[in-house]
Amino acid sequence: MSVSEENSQRLSRLEAKKERLDQLRPFPSAVVNNIRESLDIEWIHSSNSIEGNTLTLKETQMVIQDGITVSGKTLREHFEAVNHKDAIEYIEQLISPNYTLRERDVLNVHELIMDKIDKEFAGRLRNAGVRISGAQFLPPNARKVPDLLEELIDWVANSQDFHPIVQAAIFHHRFVYIHPFFDGNGRTVRLLFNLLLMKEGYPPGIILASDRKRYYKALKDADQGNLDKLLELTLQAVTRSTDIYLNNLEDIAGDFAPISDIVKEPAIPYGQEYVSLLARKGQIDAYKEGRVWFTSKDAITKYLKSKGKLKN
Ligand SMILES: Nc1ncnc2c1ncn2[C@@H]1O[C@H](COP(=O)(O)OP(=O)(O)O)[C@@H](O)[C@H]1O
Ligand SMILES: [Mg+2]
Repeated sequence: MSVSEENSQRLSRLEAKKERLDQLRPFPSAVVNNIRESLDIEWIHSSNSIEGNTLTLKETQMVIQDGITVSGKTLREHFEAVNHKDAIEYIEQLISPNYTLRERDVLNVHELIMDKIDKEFAGRLRNAGVRISGAQFLPPNARKVPDLLEELIDWVANSQDFHPIVQAAIFHHRFVYIHPFFDGNGRTVRLLFNLLLMKEGYPPGIILASDRKRYYKALKDADQGNLDKLLELTLQAVTRSTDIYLNNLEDIAGDFAPISDIVKEPAIPYGQEYVSLLARKGQIDAYKEGRVWFTSKDAITKYLKSKGKLKN
């Protein structure tokens, strides 16, 4: 699997950030609990929303933190929120440096996700065909699923030479390609690929609900053998969470701002469109919140220096 030039730049920038983050360990628990709680809510909301759950971020938070029932929303949507929280807690307690993925854990995650929703197939592989809406292929025959899943799990154990982020992206696609369950495959894999990353010390990557279209397109590309877009999404997601940790722990939250604000600084020789292009291409340190790209003056200065446009 070859990594594009743009993705390898993203990868090395993320590595530098992870090193900074690792130097801050052990983290002060009050700060970390707070970040983790808000990332968990975002993760639950985004992953469920991609799947069709209509609870908003705020409603998801109320359901999980206060046990509130939101009127007009189905019981199932409430279960999906609470179940997802349980599944995150489950994978968190699995994390240890020597952990390798086991089939039992895949089934347990699915069982937690589908608890009280699908009494028959929670934690059970499918025994008939499925379709993925929007996809142009039919997932493998149900009879082949147990072997394919086992093969994939063996592959995870024997692909340590891949960079963890690359491994996670390949795993992500192979899992949903097999589509081992009747339903819940997406939510399950978004938990499992993060389990692989978190055990390597990365914060979880959250595929944002606002990126649903991009995500589906990336999976379609991957069906055709091109993983670039899925790797890009994964890198951006993990970078975003890493930035959130760094911003809180290093107390530099003020440094990052929307590009439209950054370009107003007299020292920045570029306009909004050009800086946005650099951000999208992964040429500068930047991340996306909803539709808005954030970067810092420092990130642009670094870029200028690398291009020899600034001395010292
Ligand atoms: N073209 C595709 N190729 C492979 N997987 C896909 C494709 N399109 C969507 N998917 C995956 O299928 C998932 C939907 O499957 P589903 O079992 O309904 O999961 P969930 O109920 O958790 O959304 C998506 O979240 C995505 O991960
Ligand atoms: Mg579904």
